[in-house]
Amino acid sequence: MAENTFAVQSVRGMNDVLPTQVAGWQRLERVTRELFTAYGFEELRVPIVEHTALFKRAIGEYTDIVEKEMYTFTDSGGDSLTLRPEATAGVVRAAISNGLLRGARLKLWTSGPMFRHERPQKGRYRQFHQIDVEAIGFAGPDIDAELIGLTARLWRQLGITRVKLKLNSLGTAQARRVYREKLVEYFRGHESLLDADSRRRLEGNPLRILDSKNPDMQALVAAAPLLTDHLDSESREHFDGLCAMLAGMGIDYVIDPRLVRGLDYYSRTVFEWVTDALGAQDAVCSGGRYDDLIPQLGGEAQPAIGFAMGIERVVELMGQAGAVDAPLAPHVYIIASGERAQRTALALAERLRDDLPTLRFQSNMGGGNFKAQFRRADRSGASLALILGDTELERGVASLKSLRDESGQTQWPLPDLAARIPAILADLAGPTEAG
Ligand code: HAM
Repeated sequence: MAENTFAVQSVRGMNDVLPTQVAGWQRLERVTRELFTAYGFEELRVPIVEHTALFKRAIGEYTDIVEKEMYTFTDSGGDSLTLRPEATAGVVRAAISNGLLRGARLKLWTSGPMFRHERPQKGRYRQFHQIDVEAIGFAGPDIDAELIGLTARLWRQLGITRVKLKLNSLGTAQARRVYREKLVEYFRGHESLLDADSRRRLEGNPLRILDSKNPDMQALVAAAPLLTDHLDSESREHFDGLCAMLAGMGIDYVIDPRLVRGLDYYSRTVFEWVTDALGAQDAVCSGGRYDDLIPQLGGEAQPAIGFAMGIERVVELMGQAGAVDAPLAPHVYIIASGERAQRTALALAERLRDDLPTLRFQSNMGGGNFKAQFRRADRSGASLALILGDTELERGVASLKSLRDESGQTQWPLPDLAARIPAILADLAGPTEAG
């Protein structure tokens, strides 16, 4: 082995998205962008790095994310910064620090990479990607229903069927305080059964114990008192309103009183779209209300709700549903043999792209004899080969040959090509998919 070799590998849990995989990402990005625009949401782009204090305050000190999973570092100026583990905190920070709130109603979306130092497994990564939607300044359950309706429409448009909607209400902060006391009392009564994490959280945030993934804790958690039984009347009304709206929209759901979510900023409505098609990582899209978060971060009090979907997980479901297009093949593959012909072909390709901007022209690169170039043309999936050789050059023409059928080769003066190519392609009925 050479002396200075080192392993060229990506960081564990951080993946490349290869050209063969990217079609699904692009389709999801395109469909969501169109849907968001149609529903009146505007895009906002926020930094990947924020002050660590923002996430601690927004997500909560006693959450798995803040306790164990953040990529935090001190920069050379001495500031503690963190790679964002989620988008909501940054979006709210941006709304406050850019003065966007001021009584305004905001419908925003953003997307990009998020970072959590979790144990990587299928569907769970350390760098993953979210598409995130936030609606700020809306108090009633109508926006909750609209956001859920939007996601249901997205699944339909993507052909995704193996998802199920889980709903719960966490009530107001006041109702949770009362419930919290009941919960502490219950867990105190069974303190010997608590694991170390849960024992620590008993004081700081007992609700987090309900979110424990420890199998030994599940029986204890299952028998714990239910928040649903301690809801305040306004939250109950909000939740009933939402359920009625969803029924009216024909959206099925199950109420899951154990759905507490892994971030502390939620109040009232929380929801999660789950699937049985991805193994252990079953949450595809999740969110809820965060009516108390904005004043906690120093903004004027505004109710808000949002959700985020994991792009990797949605793209995997799209693949399973056969909803990912094959890459688009060129319409015309340009073959040229000889130095002069190659020069002419490059200039001709640019002219054809000017004249026929909706068609895809791929020029053969790197030379090769006619046979090799034809092989590449076939492999590209193109419908038509455009051929320029010495004989063609002398006569000021190019040959066009179907790669789809045996219809043979025709020759056309160079200035006529832009007019002929669309007609010939139309006869061939569209390009095939690239192999
Ligand atoms: P979250 O439930 O932590 O919520 O993440 C949202 C989605 O991101 C999950 O449903 C899942 O699809 C995906 N996801 C989370 N962690 C990973 C991971 N390690 N690898 C792959 N995918 C992952 C939030 O982040 C909230 N900010 C959502 C929200 C917006 N609530 C209100 N507004």
